[in-house]
Amino acid sequence: MNVDIEKAANLIRDGETVGIPTETVYGLAADAFNVNAVKKIFEQKGRPAENPLIVHISDDSHLEILAAKIPDDAKKLADRFWPGPLSIILQKQAGVPDIVTGGLGTVAIRMPGHPLTLSLIEKTGPLTAPSANKSGRPSPTHPRHIEQDFGEDFPVLNGGSSSIGLESTVLDLTGDFPTILRPGFVDAKMIKDVLGKKVLIPDKSDESSKGKSPGTRFTHYKPMAAVHWVEPADLQTFRSDSYYLLHSQHFGIPEEKNVHAYNGNYKFFARDLYDHFRTADHLSCSDIFVEPFDNSIQHPLIPALKDRIEKAISS
Ligand code: TXA
Ligand code: MG
Repeated sequence: MNVDIEKAANLIRDGETVGIPTETVYGLAADAFNVNAVKKIFEQKGRPAENPLIVHISDDSHLEILAAKIPDDAKKLADRFWPGPLSIILQKQAGVPDIVTGGLGTVAIRMPGHPLTLSLIEKTGPLTAPSANKSGRPSPTHPRHIEQDFGEDFPVLNGGSSSIGLESTVLDLTGDFPTILRPGFVDAKMIKDVLGKKVLIPDKSDESSKGKSPGTRFTHYKPMAAVHWVEPADLQTFRSDSYYLLHSQHFGIPEEKNVHAYNGNYKFFARDLYDHFRTADHLSCSDIFVEPFDNSIQHPLIPALKDRIEKAISS
């Protein structure tokens, strides 16, 4: 159910949750300082309590009420990338409720790049919001996805389709080196260019990195169809009961509603990925075949795309 900014702000002030648009994916928002409201987020999503949330801000001054200290690196990155698809992890202020941070001493903060949500936060103060999907489902990139997961009466501030379509880059600034815990639109090179220092990307198979990034322990982005990488050479036997996502060309398979080729447009591929996962389920496809990215292709979105597709394959 669409609500306007006034109504959304009133719901937030009353301790309710609201779907909010961002340039990455839609969020399920509550007042970051209202413990009972934040509890509702976890209940509604079915999200494990140990998985911390991102706090969304509309003004740099909010940083001071959330972070215990603001390192120069955080200021530089905020100047360059906010509002935008970068979440920065800092030591938290004592006043940030434990329920928001999953009991961690750190907090993830971002200023989202959507004018409606920035106006809403100006009225309500910082909003904590995970992606507005039921836990384990693909993130929503359009209000209809929230309706699919939460029903048509669920209040949503409708800001159209998310322009990026993949969740923000999560960057930890509390260690010796900036460390990417989740790849996104802002890639390691862009961060390195601003900070002038090495940026770490932990190996996903490294068990010690998992404690740092609680989100990596949980099921993610899972359509009901089974997701597989499929080499172009194996595309000869087109199956009408399956869904095809090709980042390059059609390889001679018919152009149908279950076949999508992006001709190298990685930006649109990322924007549409979760909608395709949901559409494949809607069409009752048994399998989703995705063309692998070979190492010769360099594009900032590829690490993020691979990460989300691999999560959908493994979960
Ligand atoms: O683009 C996005 O980031 C979207 C929009 C709504 O802003 N939000 C989003 O939230 O994707 P969520 O909850 O689905 O993912 C947040 C990720 C999780 O992997 C979580 O574990 C990690 O950020 N995270 C949050 N706080 C953290 C912290 N203090 N330390 C380490 N990881 C943290
Ligand atoms: Mg999520």
